[in-house]
Amino acid sequence: MAVNNEDRLIWLGGSILPVKDAKINVLSPTSQFGANVFEGIRCYWNEEEKELYAFRLKEHYDRLMNSIKIFKMDNPFSREEMQKALVDVVRANGYREDIAVRQTVFIDGFGTWSSPGPVNMFVAPVAKGRKEVSTEGGLNCCISSWERISEKNLSPRVKVGANYINSRMAQMQALESGFDSAIFMNYQGKVSEGPGSCLFMIRDGKLITPPCTASVLESITRKTVIELAGEELGVEVVEREIDRTELYICDGAFLCGSAMEVHKIASVDHYKIGNSESDELIRKLHVLYLRVASGQEEKYKSWLTPVYEGK
Ligand SMILES: Cc1ncc(COP(=O)(O)O)c(C=O)c1O
Repeated sequence: MAVNNEDRLIWLGGSILPVKDAKINVLSPTSQFGANVFEGIRCYWNEEEKELYAFRLKEHYDRLMNSIKIFKMDNPFSREEMQKALVDVVRANGYREDIAVRQTVFIDGFGTWSSPGPVNMFVAPVAKGRKEVSTEGGLNCCISSWERISEKNLSPRVKVGANYINSRMAQMQALESGFDSAIFMNYQGKVSEGPGSCLFMIRDGKLITPPCTASVLESITRKTVIELAGEELGVEVVEREIDRTELYICDGAFLCGSAMEVHKIASVDHYKIGNSESDELIRKLHVLYLRVASGQEEKYKSWLTPVYEGK
């Protein structure tokens, strides 16, 4: 039976409790200053095997540990404890559908914005279906007038809650101007990423994406797309700087991330992009991504963690 969002269970500080009872101190540094690092993790339901697969947990916990390290948090949680908390709370809810899990490590207590602790964690799953694969539609994006945060101020490499204020400004501006989403330029005047996703463009049959030093999050979907495109589709992938006007004349482009999977871009600043070939490549990537993430490709099963393991 589907889990009702209001009745779902949350893991908080070692207990599993109803979401309405999962409370955090309003004066804590996470509440006041966004002092929290987090992961957005997808788990996909495999109907044939009656199994729920968590996607690339190792990579998510590697990145979470890196965020914790850069942020100098007094972290008491091991990777094993992080993984156990996720598995326990998803099982407790009994999800048998696609879900998204927010796993957040935060500064609790009564400290200030510079306090290293006390560190606490919550794990919050929610039902979230996979996006339908289609060559129709696509996102109408604008280049944001907001610059992407950078190593010079707030590193996009740290997946900290406070970074999303930059994303919020760009997304709100895009929506108010009639676009679906925004694409950031970085402090060097080159294309970086979307507010919650990475960007790929297609030119002359090659996939091109900005390098991890272009003010982008070290995205797990980006890494996955690079690996699958090269290994399974025989497409050359190039990591290099991208100019704004290259987006206007490219053969196709898409945004990708754990939340949006692989999502075609239909236009940038009203310049229409995409053709039947690029649409087909993006469709193939999306299909392959979902097959891999839901355990339908034996070769990539080592990327997955079964939540129920036959239980
Ligand atoms: C700013 C930003 N870039 C890229 C991504 C994609 O990262 P991932 O593929 O690890 O979900 C996200 C998603 O969280 C994001 O917030």
